[in-house]
Amino acid sequence: MKARTQVAIIGAGPAGLLLGHLLRAEGIDAVIVERASPDYVLGRIRAGVLERTATDLLDRLGLGERMHAEGLPHDGFNLADGERLIRIDIQKLTGKQVMVYGQTEVTRDLMAAAQARGLEIIYEAADVALHDIESDRPYLTYTKDGASHTIEAAFICGCDGFHGPSRQAIPSSVGRGFEKVYPFGWLGILADVPPCNHELIYANHENGFALASMRSATRSRYYIQVPLDDQIEDWPDDRLWDELALRLGPEAGANITRGPAMEKSIAPLRSFVFEPMRHGRLLLAGDAAHIVPPTGAKGLNLAASDVAYLSDALIGHFKRSDQDAIGGYSAKALARVWKSERFSWQLTLLMHRFPNTDIFDRRMQIADLDYIASSIAAQTSIAENYVGLPL
Ligand code: APR
Ligand code: PHB
Repeated sequence: MKARTQVAIIGAGPAGLLLGHLLRAEGIDAVIVERASPDYVLGRIRAGVLERTATDLLDRLGLGERMHAEGLPHDGFNLADGERLIRIDIQKLTGKQVMVYGQTEVTRDLMAAAQARGLEIIYEAADVALHDIESDRPYLTYTKDGASHTIEAAFICGCDGFHGPSRQAIPSSVGRGFEKVYPFGWLGILADVPPCNHELIYANHENGFALASMRSATRSRYYIQVPLDDQIEDWPDDRLWDELALRLGPEAGANITRGPAMEKSIAPLRSFVFEPMRHGRLLLAGDAAHIVPPTGAKGLNLAASDVAYLSDALIGHFKRSDQDAIGGYSAKALARVWKSERFSWQLTLLMHRFPNTDIFDRRMQIADLDYIASSIAAQTSIAENYVGLPL
């Protein structure tokens, strides 16, 4: 079956869904082709801190109602050095807040509104392939229910995450990746217990990093740094709760409410950027083009800023006949991507125990945290990156 649309989007994660909705809101035809089922997409546990960049897009779409009703606006977060909490007052230092609202819930809200807004999402589409992206008539092929399908489009947007086919479609003579793989992972646990603190705590302890986050006043999300060769089986709940209490420090540790893990998983950490984010009629957005370590809570928020730039460029092309808009997308998106990559990398270096580092490195981390505790300038730098740099 052959279909034609203006913009064919690969991937129904946050990037693809936000982009699809923004285009449809401007009357631009868009179709999303997604490999997984809706339940599988919603079953992925991801991060939960939204910058204004992301919340503004949901509000612009009129899809922020549940976020504002159920989300938790936060005025600050904390760094911990094993002895004390160093509060970064983002509201006072930047005039902005962040919104604690799970990525899963953002995805759910965007999926729920798709049909009513004429955003077609084709789930369980297998063997998605990109064709003729260097021509002005690119097309996708995929198989579903045993039949082959083709979608012709003016543009293909690769919102298919780190492992999708879009980035691979850009010739190695044109594109290149920049990567750093970190020598540890994050073990995450989700539990229906009240958070140990009303704000997030990022802790640098002798034993390693820990993060106390949340999804609501009754659901907590915690992480600890673990060696890359650790398995889930190495971390029964009791051992994990003991280690969290130790790493988060005496005050927060004493406030931890223990309970059974609803979800427990280990994820590797990497920094990655692919340049360029456009080749011919293929445009990349979100994890398809870049990955950040979760330390700075930038993954979803970078997808949102990419999509803010990309939707503006496509709207400019289709509705204002602005032929330069598309050409400027990659450089504009990458400028913000690299600054978020820097912040995420720097906070990861500050807060984790790196193997094969010496006592001097450890003392540098402690001195850095001590400087941050004593410097409004240092806290302001962290705060303005955490709430999100301007678009
Ligand atoms: N064909 C079709 N769809 C695909 C294919 C494929 N070959 N490969 C991947 N996909 C889909 C995935 O199933 C997923 O739903 O693309 C989507 C990509 O979504 P994400 O990985 O969530 O990436 P993105 O939308 O850029 O959002 C970035 O999500 O993974 C987190 O930490 C990340 O917070 C960040 C955010
Ligand atoms: C989360 O709540 O999952 C979370 C919060 C902040 C981060 C990373 C993850 O930096």
